[in-house]
Amino acid sequence: LKIAVLVSGGGTNLQAIIDAINDKKITNASISIVISNNKNAYALERAHNNNIKNICISPKEFSTKEEYSDALIKVLKENNIDLIVLAGFLVVLPEKIIENYPNKIINIHPSLIPSFSGDGYYGLKVHEKVLERGVRYTGATVHFVDSGTDTGPIIFQKPVKVLENDTPEVLQRRVMEEAEWNIMPKAIDYIANGRIEVLNNKVHIKE
Ligand code: GRF
Repeated sequence: LKIAVLVSGGGTNLQAIIDAINDKKITNASISIVISNNKNAYALERAHNNNIKNICISPKEFSTKEEYSDALIKVLKENNIDLIVLAGFLVVLPEKIIENYPNKIINIHPSLIPSFSGDGYYGLKVHEKVLERGVRYTGATVHFVDSGTDTGPIIFQKPVKVLENDTPEVLQRRVMEEAEWNIMPKAIDYIANGRIEVLNNKVHIKE
């Protein structure tokens, strides 16, 4: 399975995927390219340090969303990509890409979808809202990307306890360490090994 990982920031989820491939926790998959919308994303540095092809394609370089999505699709096709992984990617993916890659795009969201998800819920804001509401558990979700925001078929979720004195930063870190870096590699391994099937917009896992 040839993977493109799309990133915008620190790339800790990318690092988790790289490590899982190196540790053989992910089999039959390789990262063909890392694409960022942000030239300063440390995620690009991580790719470089692991000898993984990496480029920056910024929407700002294009006058229309159409041209941006055409540039992305061109690179994805040139690299014969089978699976697009959104790992901390903060750009709304153009519709044309979602149409070109049905159930071939996965995203990690730092909450138990549908809670604390949808427009405006990303990064630290998710954890601020979790603490504000006082829920006992939060967590992370890996799902297929469809035309909505955080609305595609759910693949894996992992709960994380919210603790008494959590700050948004402390909680974000725990959700990443205990949930995101676990279920993202697991989802990729399951897809790479034919263990995921989508029927009527529901994911069926072949254990
Ligand atoms: C994290 O909050 C993650 O939940 C979200 O993007 C943020 C950064 O991820 N998906 P990364 O460290 O760039 O992988």
